[in-house]
Amino acid sequence: MTTPRPIRIFDTTLRDGEQSPGASMNLTEKMEIAQALVHLGVDVIEAGFPIASPGDFESVRDIAAAVRDATVCGLARCNDADIDRAWEALARAARPRIHVFLATSAIHREFKLRMGEDEVVRRAVAGVERARGYCDDIEFSPEDAARTEIDFLCRVVEAVIAAGTTTVNIPDTVGYATPMQMHSVISSLVNRVPNIDKAVISVHCHDDLGLAVANSLAAVEAGAGQVECTINGIGERAGNCSLEEVVMALKTRADHYRCDTRIETRRLVPTSRLVANITGIQVPRNKAIVGRNAFAHEAGIHQDGMLKERRTYEIMRPEDVGLDRTDLVLGKHSGRAALADRANALGYQLSAEQLQTLFERFKLLADRKKEIYDGDIAALCEDQFAGLPERFAFAGYELSCASGQSPRVVLRVHQAGVETSVEGKSVEVSSVEVSAGDGPIDGIFLAIEKLTGIATVCRDFRVQAVTVGKDAQAEVTVELEHGGQIHRGRGVSTDSLEASAKAFLAAINRVALGPQARLHPQQV
Ligand code: KIV
Ligand code: ZN
Repeated sequence: MTTPRPIRIFDTTLRDGEQSPGASMNLTEKMEIAQALVHLGVDVIEAGFPIASPGDFESVRDIAAAVRDATVCGLARCNDADIDRAWEALARAARPRIHVFLATSAIHREFKLRMGEDEVVRRAVAGVERARGYCDDIEFSPEDAARTEIDFLCRVVEAVIAAGTTTVNIPDTVGYATPMQMHSVISSLVNRVPNIDKAVISVHCHDDLGLAVANSLAAVEAGAGQVECTINGIGERAGNCSLEEVVMALKTRADHYRCDTRIETRRLVPTSRLVANITGIQVPRNKAIVGRNAFAHEAGIHQDGMLKERRTYEIMRPEDVGLDRTDLVLGKHSGRAALADRANALGYQLSAEQLQTLFERFKLLADRKKEIYDGDIAALCEDQFAGLPERFAFAGYELSCASGQSPRVVLRVHQAGVETSVEGKSVEVSSVEVSAGDGPIDGIFLAIEKLTGIATVCRDFRVQAVTVGKDAQAEVTVELEHGGQIHRGRGVSTDSLEASAKAFLAAINRVALGPQARLHPQQV
């Protein structure tokens, strides 16, 4: 038996994933995801694009300083200012990597860069040389490689490897490639670039045609040694190659691919939940590997087969991706240790102080709800540790309504910077009354807008039960548009109106942080 070929997993949830509309994360949230990625066992974390904004710079810098067990990578366009800034952010990393990119396809050369082939090669080499002056681990991406003429792509790849690139990444930037084409591009590099053995070939696929995972796997078959991907496949437009799918394909079909990753697959579901909760981008029920229905066998005939022998219809074991079949139920009498154990299994690493706060909130919830499931615990953790500074926090509402009439809503919020407690007792700091709206939720949203002075357009509003049962907590997500940007918010409560108010306020808090002036990496 041959030893499986190791495939590096390069996670770009914090960079390309964050380019999904409305998915911006703050420093605390990014740090939480970075820690989860370390536990998951990814080889490289692309922590951000340091020159994009002071916030991006700080998060790359802090993640670089905190993470010891993975390479931390920062993105830079092919110019001195970007590369210098990337290094400034990465300098404290145990294993720093600078990722330099420059477009190479004819359409990008002509219309975006206005550069000829020689100029592109010259700039790419200069960028790699500058980065190499800072550290030894350099990745170069010829942007839009999948649409680049193969002869020119081979020329660029040879030149950047000669200049010191250690990983050469082949992006299908616009999600245009097909699996056979991707296989052929990588095979051409393997066969035609004389110094290709000096670098690892990587692949970075977008999902515009729903082919990102298939294209990445085809690249692996042709010799790629690194796959770039994101948790839940989030990312620019239709997203990136989904980490959980590509990893489980390599594992489940090891007989075919004969490759291996370092991923601790039992952390896939917890990490997926964490990213979904933080970004507000929910995972579709039927999503492979981490969707709620991914292991649900509905049809009677399947259930019958499953009871006789699981493998009749199951190609992967749910427990191998971190899905506990026994959704352990906790209740009023459960202790701190049991709660800590479940939170840990769900992917939350809590300090003693955090556990204490969680335990207090757990007890309050247990008074309102008999059985507490994993979904409830994850919701409590997210609610409590979401790192956004809250300018406005929900304090309470009163409501009277009848069908066919506008509701009357009195809404109260605490405001940051305003005294909220008198002798330890919380006081209401702002309240507003409105008699408007099409129903109670609309009335609550109008009241929040009036009270905060922030007007938005509601682009999406979703309610779903966190767990089963009539007393299940409601999880509400909203998407608000303000100043041309999308802001997401999430709220959880056993009272769905309260959950709606919390979700709306969470999105308003993001608006209140102010417009995040930020450079897009693909902006020249
Ligand atoms: O899709 C792409 O081309 C990218 C590069 C910056 C690697 O994300
Ligand atoms: Zn990309």
